[in-house]
Amino acid sequence: MRLSIFIAFASSALALAQDTSLAEVKKAFDDAHVPKDINLMFEPEVLLEVTFTQPAAKPITLRAGVQLLRNETVGPPTYNVIGASSEGPFVIAVVDPDVPTPQNTSIAQIRHFLGGNFYRMNPKAPTLLYNNTPAVSEYLQPSPRAPSDAHRYIFLLFRQSEEFNKQTLVTATTSIEHFNISSFASALKLGQPIGGTFMMVAPQV
Ligand SMILES: *[C@@H]1O[C@H](CO)[C@@H](O)[C@H](O)[C@H]1NC(C)=O
Ligand SMILES: *[C@@H]1O[C@H](CO)[C@@H](O)[C@H](O)[C@H]1NC(C)=O
Ligand SMILES: *[C@@H]1O[C@H](CO)[C@@H](O)[C@H](O)[C@H]1NC(C)=O
Repeated sequence: MRLSIFIAFASSALALAQDTSLAEVKKAFDDAHVPKDINLMFEPEVLLEVTFTQPAAKPITLRAGVQLLRNETVGPPTYNVIGASSEGPFVIAVVDPDVPTPQNTSIAQIRHFLGGNFYRMNPKAPTLLYNNTPAVSEYLQPSPRAPSDAHRYIFLLFRQSEEFNKQTLVTATTSIEHFNISSFASALKLGQPIGGTFMMVAPQV
C-alpha cells in the first residue's frame, strides 16, 4: 500500500517535472520526429521552461513530450530560459504541425504563438522572461478536433534578429493556418532555435 502510494507520487512528480537536460530534450525532439517535421535543426544550447498555472493545482512546467489535458493548457504560459549567455532579445514561436491530424497535415502548421522582444529581467538570477511589446500572434490554447491522436505543440526559442521588429510577413491579421516556422525563421535570419520543448494534447472528451 505504502509502496503503491509512493510509486503513484513518484510517477506523477516525474510526469510534471521540468526539463533539466539538454540531451534529454534533444532526444525527446528526435524521438518524436519534431526537427524533421518542422524542417529545422534542433541542437539546444539552453533550456526553455514553459509553465502553465492551474486554477486549483500546482503550476505545470513542461517536460519535453509530456501529455497534458486540454484544460490544463489554458495559459498563456510563462517562459523562462536557463543557461543563456545573453539577456535577449529572444523570439518565441509555438506551432502545431499535426493539423488536422498527425496523419493528415494539410492545414499545418497552426501558429499558436509568435512574439519577440523577450528579455531576461536579471541575467544573474533565474527569473521569468518578459516581453515589452505585444506578441505578433497571441497565445491560442490547443483545441485539437476529434477524432485525432494527440497533437504536438512545439515551443521554440530563437535569438532575435535585427529584421524581426521590421517584419511584415506575419501580422495580427495573417491566418494562423499554413504557417511555416522554418521559412519564417529563414526569411528573418533567426537561425536555428537555441532551445525548446513540447507538449502533447489530445481532443478532450
Ligand atoms: C480537466 O478535466 C479533467 C477531466 O475531465 C478533470 O478531472 C480536471 O479536474 C479538469 N482540470 C481542470 C484544471 O479544469
Ligand atoms: C485532410 O484534411 C483536410 C482538411 O480537414 C480534408 O479536407 C482532407 O479530406 C483530408 N485528407 C484525407 C486524405 O483525409
Ligand atoms: C517549410 O519551409 C521549408 C523551407 O524553409 C520547406 O523545406 C518546407 O517544405 C516547408 N514546409 C511546408 C509544409 O511547406
